[in-house]
Amino acid sequence: MSAVLVRSFDEWRAAARSLIVRRVPPESVQWISEEGGDLLSGAADELPLAQPAAAPRVPRRLMDMLESAACYRAGDRWAFLYRVLWRWHHGEQEILSMADEDGGRLQQMVKAVHHEIHDMHAYLRFRERPEAEGAPRFVAWFEPAHDVLPQVAQHFAQRMGRISWMIATPEASVLWDGATMHSTGPLMRSAADIDDAGEKLWLTYYRSIFNPARLNADIMHGHIRSRFWKNLPEAAVVPQMVSQAAAGARKVGQLDTVGKRKGATIPIAAEDAQPERQQPSTLDECRRCDLWQNATQAVGGQGARRAKVMLLGEQPGDQEDLAGKPFVGPAGELLDKAMDQAGMDRRKVYITNAVKHFKWEPRGKRRMHKTPGQREVMACHYWLETELETIAPDVIVALGSTALKSILQSGSVSLKDYMGEPFQHEGRWVVATYHPAYALRVPSPEARAEALAAMVGALRTAQRLAEGGPPDAMPA
Ligand code: URA
Repeated sequence: MSAVLVRSFDEWRAAARSLIVRRVPPESVQWISEEGGDLLSGAADELPLAQPAAAPRVPRRLMDMLESAACYRAGDRWAFLYRVLWRWHHGEQEILSMADEDGGRLQQMVKAVHHEIHDMHAYLRFRERPEAEGAPRFVAWFEPAHDVLPQVAQHFAQRMGRISWMIATPEASVLWDGATMHSTGPLMRSAADIDDAGEKLWLTYYRSIFNPARLNADIMHGHIRSRFWKNLPEAAVVPQMVSQAAAGARKVGQLDTVGKRKGATIPIAAEDAQPERQQPSTLDECRRCDLWQNATQAVGGQGARRAKVMLLGEQPGDQEDLAGKPFVGPAGELLDKAMDQAGMDRRKVYITNAVKHFKWEPRGKRRMHKTPGQREVMACHYWLETELETIAPDVIVALGSTALKSILQSGSVSLKDYMGEPFQHEGRWVVATYHPAYALRVPSPEARAEALAAMVGALRTAQRLAEGGPPDAMPA
C-alpha cells in the first residue's frame, strides 16, 4: 500500500499522474490529507518505476470536472478522483455517464460544488471595518459546505478591484490586499469576531432600500436557504420589517410611489429609458416592455429548483395567463404527453418561457396568441438569465423558434438550422425542437405524429446529455 499526502488539487494531479505512470491501482493507494501518522511513506514520485505506463491523457472537460469535484467535502475525495482517472485511463469512458455509479457521483459532486459557489457569491456579505493600518477594509464571514473559498475569492478579487478585503471561513481565510491574494488558516471562529462597527451602517442601508410594497415574505425565505440566514446582517431587521409591512407599511409604500407620479407624461421609448432605470426586483413589477399592460399577470417558471434540464417555451398562452403557470393549456398537455413518452418526469425539470407575459390580440370574444417580437424577447431575456443563474441547468430544450432566438439572443436564427443536433452555448447544452403548439396545429396527422416524435427525441437527448451521455444526433 502506498500512502500519498495531498493537500490541494495540484498536488493530487501531480501524484495521480505519477501513480498511473507507475501502474499503481486505486486499491493500492492510501490518500492522506493531513501530515503526520505512520502511514506516510512519501510522495508518489519516490515509488519504484518498473515498466512505466503512458501518462494519462485527460480531456479538458473531465479535468474541469475533477477539479470541481476536488472541492467537494468527502473523506475519500482524493481516492475517488483517482479511481475515476484510473478508469478513464483504462478506456472506461462510461465514467462520464450518469448511469455509471462513479460517473453519477462525480456529476453530483460537481453540481453541488457549483451550487455552493453560486450561493457564496449571492449570500456573502462584506462588512466595512474602521480604518486600521494594514487591516482589510471589508471583512466577510461565511460557512461554506464545500471547499470553494479559492474560486469565490477570485470572483471577488475581480469584482472589487483594489479595495482590500478578507473572507474568513471556519477552515481557512483569504486576504486580498488590493493586488495580491494571501491564503491562511482559520482566523476567526464566527461572524461575531468581525468588528461590527460597520454593522449599523449596513442595517440602515438595508432599511432604506427595503420597500414594503414589494414584500413577499414566502419568496424571500424560499429563495434564501435557512443555513445562510444566520450570517446575513439584514436577518436581524427583516422580521420587524415584515410585520410592519403586514400592518400597513405595504399600503403606505405603494401610495408613496404612486403619489409621486404627477405632471405631464413625456413619451419615451422603453428601450431608451432602460439604462436609466432600476431593474425590477420581481416579475410582477416588470415594465421592461409593454406586454404587461394587457396580461393578467406575469408567468414565471416552475419546477425543480436544481433541475438539470430546463424546457423553454415561447410565452404563456390564454390559460397560462389566467393560471399564472407555464404550459397548463393544450400545448402543455401535448408537452406532458411528449415528456411521458420520453420518460421525463415533469417534477424533475424546470419549465419556463422566453417571454413572461401573454401577448395577444382580440378576435371576437377570444384572445388570440400573437408571436412576441425580438424586442420583447430581448427585454425578457433579463428574467431568463436570472432563472439560468438560479437553476443552473446543464441542458436547455428550446421549444420552438422564439425560445431559440432568446437563448442565442438573435432574431435572425432559424429553428431548422439547429434541429437534429445538440450544441453547446455558454457552457451548457442546447437541444432545439418544435414547439408543442406547432405539433397541435400542423394539418396532417402524419406531420403531427412526426412533430411529436421529434419532440420526444429531443427530450430523450436532453435527458441523456444531462446524465453526461454523448451528444449523438437525434431525429430532426
Ligand atoms: N406556449 C408556450 O410557449 N408556453 C406556455 O406556457 C404555453 C403555451
